[in-house]
Amino acid sequence: MAPHTIRWGIISTGGIATKFSQVSTPHSLRFYSSNRVNHVIYPPSECSSHAQDILVDPSTRDVSDVAHKIAAVGSRSVASAQAFIDKLKAGKAPFDWGAKNGLLDNTKAYGSYEEVYNDPNVDAIYIGTPHTFHHANAKGALLGGKNVLCEKPFTLDMDELDELIAIAKKKKIFLMEAVWTRFHPIAYAVQDVIHSGKLGKVKRFSSEFSKDLDPDNQPYSHRMIDPALGGGSLLDMGPYPSVWAMLVLHHHPLNKSRKPPKLHFSHQTLYPRSNVDLNSRWLLEWEGVSQAMLMTDMSTHGPKESTVYISCEEGDLALEWGPFKPQRFWIIPHPPGAEKSIKVKTEHHYPVSAGGGMAYEADEVARCIRDGKLESERMPWEESRIVQGWFDQVRRAGGGVLANVKGNAGK
Ligand SMILES: NC(=O)c1ccc[n+]([C@@H]2O[C@H](COP(=O)([O-])OP(=O)(O)OC[C@H]3O[C@@H](n4cnc5c(N)ncnc54)[C@H](OP(=O)(O)O)[C@@H]3O)[C@@H](O)[C@H]2O)c1
Repeated sequence: MAPHTIRWGIISTGGIATKFSQVSTPHSLRFYSSNRVNHVIYPPSECSSHAQDILVDPSTRDVSDVAHKIAAVGSRSVASAQAFIDKLKAGKAPFDWGAKNGLLDNTKAYGSYEEVYNDPNVDAIYIGTPHTFHHANAKGALLGGKNVLCEKPFTLDMDELDELIAIAKKKKIFLMEAVWTRFHPIAYAVQDVIHSGKLGKVKRFSSEFSKDLDPDNQPYSHRMIDPALGGGSLLDMGPYPSVWAMLVLHHHPLNKSRKPPKLHFSHQTLYPRSNVDLNSRWLLEWEGVSQAMLMTDMSTHGPKESTVYISCEEGDLALEWGPFKPQRFWIIPHPPGAEKSIKVKTEHHYPVSAGGGMAYEADEVARCIRDGKLESERMPWEESRIVQGWFDQVRRAGGGVLANVKGNAGK
């Protein structure tokens, strides 16, 4: 049977939409323990883009039931949209497969996002604008009858998110937050290890996304600095410590009813230049499962080999940096004298397939649309709401420039 093909519209030609990386160079082929596809291992920090990754041959990730095509690109400038398409067409392996196989034939360049919302040849729209525009862009796309995959964080606040969900339900259109990490082979593998009980009960959990973005040397207009673009570490980096807490603890078999955690306290350090948060910390507790300390920081690097650390009764599990796309974890015995059944440190590799790792979530969108679903079971609305709720609480308690800013719900 022919694959179900999704005709994508891409909104914006910024960093994540146009991060034309050279991820085709593997840095190691030595360790291989994934049972999923024919992988090579890429440096974890390398990032790709949605548009690039859907141009990679789906068979490289063992996919034959769905496929992708880029029907339109919308930018505030038609020249930028056209330059983006030209760059995609000039992509190197493995991203050249799309152009060679017609995935960029007749791709339209538009000088506005509205034209993409209204293009009858577009099935789904990927939104890669700064956070403060996600709501308006997703709303425009949904009202234009288009399925939506929206970058993280979904929206600025819960009211915006609830409005989008209400529109999707009413119009019976698919909507999902683009938390790509959820779909990576390693995410399933870590869940399998912890939920199998092989390491015993979880005793303590910490996860963080910290990276020194050298904020003092960025222009005020940088979207991590400028409050008008939703600046600060929490909204941009917060989805990544959150995704691991959600997958491991929220989905833990001991949390049968999927009860959301309690947020005990939070703290933000403010960046005097624009009063956005330089770092955020918040402590959660899933009753009967574990506490979890989550952190973001844009002025210092996080630990290389324990961006997520899960202490368990029998031994621990640590994930490599960065939390958006780790491809390696370790199982580690307790310190000398306190060892339990885990006696030896082991290393486990679960690399993403060819490309940067964003095609998995695109495949999920395609399958959900094909099957008439409004939301993804792997990235459901309610779980986006739980995380968005933490961000609202942490931001408000932090007292920064965004503490009392309301989103655009209703506008
Ligand atoms: N999943 C991931 O790994 C990942 C990685 C990085 C970023 N992201 C998310 O993607 C989103 C965009 O991040 P980015 O780094 O790509 O941002 P960026 O480089 O600043 O690009 C944002 C783009 O949005 C458009 N835009 C529309 N109105 C704008 C305005 N008033 N000011 C600035 N840009 C405006 C512009 O595109 P046009 O000129 O073409 O209209 C701009 O190039 C963020 O929400 C971020 O959280 C996700």
